[in-house]
Amino acid sequence: MPENAPLLTRRPQWTALEDHRAKFNGTHLRDLFAGDPGRAGRYTVQVGDLHIDYSKHLVTDETLALLQELATATDVFGQRDAMFRGEKINTTEDRAVLHTALRAPAGTVIEVDGENVVPGVHAVLDKMTAFADKVRSGEWTGHTGKRIKNVVNVGIGGSDLGPAMAYEALRPFTARELTFRFVSNVDGADLHEAVRDLDPAETLFIIASKTFTTIETITNATAARTWLLAGLGGDGAAVAKHFVALSTNAEKVSDFGIDTANMFEFWDWVGGRYSFDSAIGLSLMIAIGPDRFRELLDGFHLVDEHFRTAPAEANAPLLLGLLGIWYGNFHGAQSHAVLPYSHYLSKFTAYLQQLDMESNGKSVDREGRRVEWQTGPVVWGTPGTNGQHAYYQLIHQGTKLIPADLIGFANPVDELSDDLKGQHDLLMANLFAQGQALAFGKTPDEVRAEGVAEELVAHKTFQGNHPTTTILAKELTPSVLGQLIALYEQKVFVQGAVWNIDSFDQWGVELGKVLAKRVEPALTEGAEVPGLDPSTQALVGTYRALRGR
Ligand code: F6P
Repeated sequence: MPENAPLLTRRPQWTALEDHRAKFNGTHLRDLFAGDPGRAGRYTVQVGDLHIDYSKHLVTDETLALLQELATATDVFGQRDAMFRGEKINTTEDRAVLHTALRAPAGTVIEVDGENVVPGVHAVLDKMTAFADKVRSGEWTGHTGKRIKNVVNVGIGGSDLGPAMAYEALRPFTARELTFRFVSNVDGADLHEAVRDLDPAETLFIIASKTFTTIETITNATAARTWLLAGLGGDGAAVAKHFVALSTNAEKVSDFGIDTANMFEFWDWVGGRYSFDSAIGLSLMIAIGPDRFRELLDGFHLVDEHFRTAPAEANAPLLLGLLGIWYGNFHGAQSHAVLPYSHYLSKFTAYLQQLDMESNGKSVDREGRRVEWQTGPVVWGTPGTNGQHAYYQLIHQGTKLIPADLIGFANPVDELSDDLKGQHDLLMANLFAQGQALAFGKTPDEVRAEGVAEELVAHKTFQGNHPTTTILAKELTPSVLGQLIALYEQKVFVQGAVWNIDSFDQWGVELGKVLAKRVEPALTEGAEVPGLDPSTQALVGTYRALRGR
């Protein structure tokens, strides 16, 4: 956005939305549906395999038109095109943002600093394919000649959440004879539990770190190497058969002792939280096989192309991004729930937390001015039916507006027994019931008509008017997972573009990292740490006393 562009909240399109919101007050979804019989069909968009119903939102055609005018005024599509072209839109790090190149078909030309990056992407994919095939077939053996049976990914943030989430999501497609574990926490218990029942001779460690300097990952990787060598008689040569690295930093990989021949490269134009379809997906590729991995990439690409080419009124990431802006900026909603009705998507929301909150949790705009508008929401949620028996009470009858996404699939996975497949309709009945209850609620008159005593009527009334998007697909395949993730990636992009923030840096994680390094010697050696505040100083003292130091 040009530096002299008006601040977002002073744009006429913004104030038009404020006026519209004031008039909208009191409108109920019950009225919107009653007054518009075609609403359900009209407010639905199909993208690839994703059927997206946004009819249960507090919007009219006028709302959508006004939101689209805001998107036009803030040049969302111009910013989108700059991203796809490889311009350095991550200005605070002076980097291009090209996760879309990771899933671009061979032959596409996308240039960064005058160099086409697509051939490099496919060369790494081919190298990953060859390696994954060798591990899956048993041709790649450990130091003692034993077949690899266990794969342990060591990484954190974007180098963990994506592969760990996708491994869960695609379990039915995985090589069941192999064991996969994901270690991220610097709490030694994480690695301990991951390897305690494994044979080092059969274990491959994948050290995943874009920078290869992340303290949690390097600490765990070092401990993993110690564990491996202790189990294999201390021969350092074993590392070459049991450790591979996924990184942009060949020098650090080599310093760690991993041969760069065993390194799978990616590039600084891939953000950590956008990296799981890069080399960071190696563990997943070993799990589901290279062909399925490429189906996943095709799924991502399908939604990228939709985002790049679909007109505004049918552009799903644009619509979902703008709906989030409508609630966050014009209704004061603070959070957004993502509620999958799929056990396999149990880690999906945790993955989205990094994608969304690390991208759009910003309070200055691209020019460094403090923003006067709300930016990214708190993203939260767990699989739906479990949530129903925990926190849905607050969504239904609490005092907060919490827009939610309900995600479900028409078919259970094939390998379930017929009995278990039979449970699928009940699972999905819950999804549909929740969407209906949240939107339409139950009026006091409806409660009274059931013969409820007058003093309980208020307690048993459901106000309704809670907006949801329902996303349905035939089944959860690798391609569908790619489509879903790209949908959210591009939605996050849209919101950052309107808010005029840099969605691709993450300076907010730095201070804690620096302070942790500074505090550690105070814990271990009782060292004086200059600048430690009195509260933290006292806590450090208590900690040392409790540890008997
Ligand atoms: O939490 C900050 C962060 O830089 C994330 O953005 C990133 O995904 C994670 O740490 C891990 O970084 P790396 O892959 O460099 O180890």
